[in-house]
Amino acid sequence: MVAGKVPAVAKGWFRKVTHRPPFQPIRKSPLPDEFPGVHRMDLDEEDAVLRVCRSRSLYRYYGVDPQGEVDAFEREFSASLGVRYALAVTSGTAALHTALTALRVGPGQEVIVPAYMWVSVIAAVVNLGAIPVLAEIDDTFCLDPRSVRSLITPRTAGIILVHMNGAPGDAPTLAAIAREYGLFLLEDCAQCVGGSIDGQKVGTFGDIGIFSFQMNKNMTSGEAGCVVTNDEALYRKALSSHDCGYSRGEDGLLRLEDEASFGWGRGSRMDELRAAILRVQLRRLPEVIQSMQHSKYRLRALLEGYEEVQLRRVLDTAGDTSCFLLVVLPDAAIARAINERLRAHGIVTSSAETSNVILEDYGMHIYFNIPALQRKIGTDLRGTPWTLVENRDSVYNYARGACPQSDDLFSRTQLLVIPSCLCDQDEEDLLAAFREVLEVVLSPDVHASVSR
Ligand SMILES: Cc1ncc(COP(=O)(O)O)c(C=O)c1O
Repeated sequence: MVAGKVPAVAKGWFRKVTHRPPFQPIRKSPLPDEFPGVHRMDLDEEDAVLRVCRSRSLYRYYGVDPQGEVDAFEREFSASLGVRYALAVTSGTAALHTALTALRVGPGQEVIVPAYMWVSVIAAVVNLGAIPVLAEIDDTFCLDPRSVRSLITPRTAGIILVHMNGAPGDAPTLAAIAREYGLFLLEDCAQCVGGSIDGQKVGTFGDIGIFSFQMNKNMTSGEAGCVVTNDEALYRKALSSHDCGYSRGEDGLLRLEDEASFGWGRGSRMDELRAAILRVQLRRLPEVIQSMQHSKYRLRALLEGYEEVQLRRVLDTAGDTSCFLLVVLPDAAIARAINERLRAHGIVTSSAETSNVILEDYGMHIYFNIPALQRKIGTDLRGTPWTLVENRDSVYNYARGACPQSDDLFSRTQLLVIPSCLCDQDEEDLLAAFREVLEVVLSPDVHASVSR
């Protein structure tokens, strides 16, 4: 074994280093977990929940003493983005279903999705009977516009851009492609709440945007989501789909005369408790993002000094919500060696496999780690959507190797979460660990032996 090289050892937040000195782990306790919105929760969230409980009116459309929390949240959230309509729903997954239903996605259609996403994105397409088409990501770790262009067929209905890991993808270019071909652009901003490009918020570049407020997100009520759009007709259809199949008026009453919005509801209405919490979390969002930006860009400043280290391309650093750091290494072996040595230094979180992971191990964010996609499992006994006659011309391969450019990035990129509560000492530990690890692993003799 190369002197100073850390052996691969047992799983867990901290890997015991059994080899001889001089190796000294930099941290003795794990780093805080992801949960950006949670770290700053305080009495304001408690007050908000109590206010709703005391009103005994937990439902948005009526109650003994309605507080109008969901209405207020929708107003405040849409104002924060600069978009006309926001529709609060129960989760990001529900938001995806609501948005795609409003866009009338169905059998015979293809929807272009990135190779790097979360399984819910593909689930929403498949659940509606349409076919997902995998596109490559580029060094933004979001959709590669060139790949998208090459995949458009007469059956393509739209594109889902997923703003991954806190930083925006190239929404302006993808919006232009969508317009050129008459496709819809749905922006999935679940992981990028509060992100922007040149001052314009993500979620407002395409036809429709979705957000998640699940616990790992930049603001949270445990579970929740939102759909946003500037298009009134789309909003009405989304309103109908998330509820019971009919839109509603300002008074909260069902509008049975609004025929263009008729459909079949999914029952994804948000309740007053979550909205009350989210209103507080929305006010905190700028400070949460600022804190993560501070930590992340301290690390990036260090890493920029290493020729062998490539950082994710960020289109607008001011609009990067910074909840993750992606470090691209020259090859898979070096990435693994750096990853293991950082883990040995205690650069881990207590939830296993959520931080300091090589992307290809990052669960169902990676297309080839989604078992039901690999096996083309259907949503019913007929095998919908894969076996539908309307989809007979849409035969795609989802096995590893389908997106070689993305596969290459997955194999040599390390993901680190940047919690919103890192203290100065945490940041110093991260900097010290990276310095030590890069010096050892990238030193000419170790570098050569690792990559051999
Ligand atoms: C990119 C992306 N889209 C959609 C979702 C689904 O959100 P939810 O967990 O709120 O259903 C997530 C959740 O992690 C996500 O990361």
